[in-house]
Amino acid sequence: MTQAVLRPAPGSSESPVRAPDAAADAEPHVEPPARPGEFAPVFIGPLRVWPPVVLAPMAGVTNYPFRRLCRSFGAGLYVSEMIAARALVEQNPKSLHLSDFGPDEDPRSLQLYGVDPRYVGEAVRRLVGEGKVDHIDMNFGCPVRKVTRKGGGAAIPARPRLLARIVRAAVGAAGNVPVTIKFRMGISDELRTDLSSGRVAQEEGCAAVGLHARTAAQLYDGQARWDAVAALKQSLRIPVLGNGDIWEAGDALRMMRQTGCDGVIVGRGCLGRPWLFRELCDVFEGTPARPPPALGVVIEIMLQHAQWTAEWFGERPALRAFRRMAAWYTKGFRGSARLRQSFTQVETLADLRAACAGLDPAEPFPRSALRVSRGKHSGTQVVSLPDGFLDTLEDDAVPDGADDAIEGDGG
Ligand SMILES: Cc1cc2nc3c(=O)[nH]c(=O)nc-3n(C[C@H](O)[C@H](O)[C@H](O)COP(=O)(O)O)c2cc1C
Repeated sequence: MTQAVLRPAPGSSESPVRAPDAAADAEPHVEPPARPGEFAPVFIGPLRVWPPVVLAPMAGVTNYPFRRLCRSFGAGLYVSEMIAARALVEQNPKSLHLSDFGPDEDPRSLQLYGVDPRYVGEAVRRLVGEGKVDHIDMNFGCPVRKVTRKGGGAAIPARPRLLARIVRAAVGAAGNVPVTIKFRMGISDELRTDLSSGRVAQEEGCAAVGLHARTAAQLYDGQARWDAVAALKQSLRIPVLGNGDIWEAGDALRMMRQTGCDGVIVGRGCLGRPWLFRELCDVFEGTPARPPPALGVVIEIMLQHAQWTAEWFGERPALRAFRRMAAWYTKGFRGSARLRQSFTQVETLADLRAACAGLDPAEPFPRSALRVSRGKHSGTQVVSLPDGFLDTLEDDAVPDGADDAIEGDGG
């Protein structure tokens, strides 16, 4: 097997650290488990996170049922999907429900999105005042066109003074609840903002930062550039969480070894594969990762996920939204194209069960399905920005309309 790219210590002038090639050679990426004492828990303010693993906020995915499922396999921090500050302040019922936690969730971690510091401060004040959260993460990485073209999302870090105002509003209202921010490397390779965003976070009192090691122009394409994680880590005193291309448990160790980061954030790798958190626990505890389940157990886990989703959102809306997730679980197994087709008709739990009837429960998990993207397509973009935006990067004003309700995709 060929192991793509490994490189010497952070800061070296040699070739940059990239995530192992996701183009999927189907061989295992072997990485020795943690040695005793090699890694430490990461502290997010008062929260001790061990293993140092965070479930990435993913819009439409990391709701309570999915967090509950992932947590049942592992440990770490499980962040909600992005919730718009303004929608919380305006008491939008859907956003309020999305911001709910289950009775068994401890700690409770919520990702907030907002541009106007007044909405952000007010939303944080309410969340904290109602005792609803133990951690708030703020999203400054959303690359979606309708958001950046108004100067929101991943465009915000290009205006560090505005970023600072927003972060200050959140930290100021959060009291003892730790605030972290998550951002990308920049708008594009020509407009990098990762180091300046880290600096703002540290100066404004954030407990940690998370870096998705891609630019907004890059969307989810290509490989994450772990050298950016290493550089950010070297530039800050607060903990740095590295994000991008953790597909297998060994990738988390490799990212930490190569970049020196304090913890990792796991996104697409756990879509349809929530047992990845069990594997992460294994390797951080120093043992080899347990093998992935065979098809019969995968289906049981999927049905559990679907059932909890139905209980939380109501059966029909839940099952419609679940169709794409069902396809994630069965990706790479024999007949997965036909299955995906039959999932498009699913309306109820019974439909989902029926669609899976007759599968071979002993079919082993296909290695070819490990290092492939679920939930996002490849492709890059030219980031859309408001007219004149690049001439006014020192502005700290809230761009017009930037806080109009945002829904859906927060990446
Ligand atoms: C379906 C989906 C939804 C996402 N939604 C959010 C979001 O709401 N907030 C956010 O900060 N990032 C979001 N992201 C980005 C992830 O948190 C993460 O940064 C990204 O997927 C890179 O990590 P990965 O390579 O492990 O997937 C989303 C990603 C996906 C795949």
